[in-house]
Amino acid sequence: MSVKSIFNKKSDIKSYNTNIIFKRTNKWENELNKCIRCGYCYELCPLFKSFNWESDTPRGKLLLIYGMITGDIKPSKEIAEKIFQCFYCLKCSDNCSAGVPVTEILTDARADLLDAGFDVDGTIVKIDEDLCSVCGICLSVCKYDALSLDGTENNQKIKVDKVECKGCGLCVAACPSGSISQKEGFEITLPEMHKKVQDILKEDVNKKVIIFCCNWALFPGMQLSDTTTVVKMPYGLIVTMCSGRVTPELILDAFEEGAWGVMIAGCPPDECDHNGNYKARRRLLLLQNFLKEMNVDPERVRLEWFSSNESVKLRKSIEDFAQMVNQLGSIDRD
Ligand code: FES
Repeated sequence: MSVKSIFNKKSDIKSYNTNIIFKRTNKWENELNKCIRCGYCYELCPLFKSFNWESDTPRGKLLLIYGMITGDIKPSKEIAEKIFQCFYCLKCSDNCSAGVPVTEILTDARADLLDAGFDVDGTIVKIDEDLCSVCGICLSVCKYDALSLDGTENNQKIKVDKVECKGCGLCVAACPSGSISQKEGFEITLPEMHKKVQDILKEDVNKKVIIFCCNWALFPGMQLSDTTTVVKMPYGLIVTMCSGRVTPELILDAFEEGAWGVMIAGCPPDECDHNGNYKARRRLLLLQNFLKEMNVDPERVRLEWFSSNESVKLRKSIEDFAQMVNQLGSIDRD
């Protein structure tokens, strides 16, 4: 069934000019009609994994966009919120059996919805101007030029381009004043990840190793392979949106909560979508020096890189790491 047939009955809610509102998105009507609703797009979608609603899947979003450009669905804040929820991992476009350029359509729909006044947060980062010192570190970590300086010479601010922001959150992890945040609910914010660490360590006293896995290249591969059993093993596994999101604070917090070792599994050098793996490596080297100063064996933290087709290597690395950590035992806190 084509997308168009779902909206073939014109309703009486068309009280706006779709040509004006969707001037960028209109051009995708044919592409939207190519969607055969097979659902391959959401198999690896991190948002669908979190919420399990059809409207959170790439397919659901395409249907909403199609309905809006044809006038069958009235744009609303709730719909706009869905359209602004995406991490641009591109798994949907890569997996689409009909070749629909999902994220390009989403980007145009975002721009049109913003123009129409639907200024929502979704997975976009937010700046707290009271906390922001305009140091500019976030500008240097954003690969998408989604952040820029704004305002006058005496009153500068950081501005977020809500169309360009891909929600990777590297700026959140890099901001020294904690002034950048993302909405809770997507299991990606630092407090949410802190909570996951605490829950894992509290729920099972045998889990002494925490593994942070990058969703982009790694976790989907694991889910589809026989290494799915990894998640049932006695290691706590937390999916992140990039290894660059794992802050030293998060790792130290895990040790504080009782973990014996922390491993970060990220994408290989040229495969990280956000250049976050190099940042993770730099941070880890500094953290290992700090741990040495604190008389904690720096081997208790490890960063390794895996492609999505290296699930066997991943499982072996996790097992080796856990074995090594178990031999080291608990951290001496005296
Ligand atoms: Fe995987 Fe950055 S996207 S480590």
